[in-house]
Amino acid sequence: MQTLEAKTTPAFSQTDWQRGYESQRQELSYFVDQITGTVPPELTGTLFRNGPGLLDINGETIHHPFDGDGMVCAIAFQDGKVHFQNRFVRTEGYVKEQAAGKICYRGVFGTQKRGGWWANLFDLQLKNIANTNVIYWGNRLLALWEAGKPHRLDPHNLETIGIDDLDGILGKGDAFSAHPRIDPACVFDNGQPCLVNFSLSAGPVSTLHLYELDPQGQLLRRKSQPIPGFAFIHDFAITPHYYLFFQNPVSFNPLPFLFGQRGAAECVQFQPDQETKIIVIPRDPASTQPMKMLKAKAGFVFHHANAWEIDEQHLGIDSICYPSFPEVEPNSDFRDVDFTKVDPGQLWRFSLDLTTETATATMLESRCVEFPTLHPAYEGRPYRYAYCGTAQQSQGNAPLQALVKFDFEMGTKQFYSFAPQGFMTEPVFVPKPGATAEDAGWILMLVYDAARHGSDLVIVDAADIAAGPIASVHLKIHIPYGLHGNWTGEVFGE
Ligand code: CO
Repeated sequence: MQTLEAKTTPAFSQTDWQRGYESQRQELSYFVDQITGTVPPELTGTLFRNGPGLLDINGETIHHPFDGDGMVCAIAFQDGKVHFQNRFVRTEGYVKEQAAGKICYRGVFGTQKRGGWWANLFDLQLKNIANTNVIYWGNRLLALWEAGKPHRLDPHNLETIGIDDLDGILGKGDAFSAHPRIDPACVFDNGQPCLVNFSLSAGPVSTLHLYELDPQGQLLRRKSQPIPGFAFIHDFAITPHYYLFFQNPVSFNPLPFLFGQRGAAECVQFQPDQETKIIVIPRDPASTQPMKMLKAKAGFVFHHANAWEIDEQHLGIDSICYPSFPEVEPNSDFRDVDFTKVDPGQLWRFSLDLTTETATATMLESRCVEFPTLHPAYEGRPYRYAYCGTAQQSQGNAPLQALVKFDFEMGTKQFYSFAPQGFMTEPVFVPKPGATAEDAGWILMLVYDAARHGSDLVIVDAADIAAGPIASVHLKIHIPYGLHGNWTGEVFGE
């Protein structure tokens, strides 16, 4: 098994890492001419990425990057050429705050208006910042944020068209989460792909709303499922016949939020002594099978790598689990985080028995990992390879500086590290045209290079990630550390 040797001690400088969180105010659109290596000429399509572009409003610092205004990047590839553009989503909040030159809204993660608790008292109006994911589906480019409706953008120039209710699929007050999954071959639709997504109405009894959309964006199936208790759910997983959710053991005390002292997410308290509930809901609209709730010791989960069916009564799911919920202190700056005091996210495998309604958990990787991805044809199916961002060091939490590929069949892993001055974001798997092997593809990711205060779009051959980049596309600007994005085979841009 290969190991990741430390290139420097420490693996990174906090100052380097912090600069990746400087606001990016420029909006550009150009063909990139600074490329190291060769972009594969058969790589054809567009990578869309989303994430917080502004970490301050006219100098007023926001409290948490999750509260930063969504900035979408589109990086298009054709015949070995690369076109880049980036643009802020013109949400109502972005337009208003840019005109006012100050923070006008409270953020879910603790950003407050000036004036202390009095100015924030009973102001429950949240800003839909459209910053978490972006996906092209049904001829629409949608910027997603889990507590609100999507914003639709023009895929050619990234101009904001407006809030989109998906042709009336979403009603008043409905949301559409930032973690849709694409079933590559849906058993209910003669094997055609479908987009599966959810939203959550949280309360003393919470409700999960499930949506399945065909490739034209039309509604195939919808379903609502009440679940007991408060829930805070960011991501989910699918198999051909099930939706899987982890209901993390958290409680919610809304008083500091109502009284203007804390953001809503800061009122979520992790209950480490309680178990996680694994919720399994049938997808088949004809199913009379009730929802099942299995208990497991899982810690806090943001992201799932994949789920699959072993047989009719047994499922598997791989998830990234934190021993505790990474809370943000109210009067602190997230840039000053002491990584040694934060628990790492670790990769766990859960085996679910639907007959006995029990779950067993095995840790697959103790090293800090995040942003798992896989070949899209294996979504919801048994799979051999997963790819994640990981820390340079093997223990504790730290910025993601390396790409790791897990081979679950062989029990091995491969690395490529950008340390000490490179900081990576979510890897995205793009299959090679005409190839069949599960790792025949490219990994695309944005890497912030602190040495030049700019970002690179890095392409790695998924079959041999240790060989390093086959191409690094050097952008003129830095892209603040982003969240999620998706690939489409269509080419957009000039
Ligand atoms: Co996420």
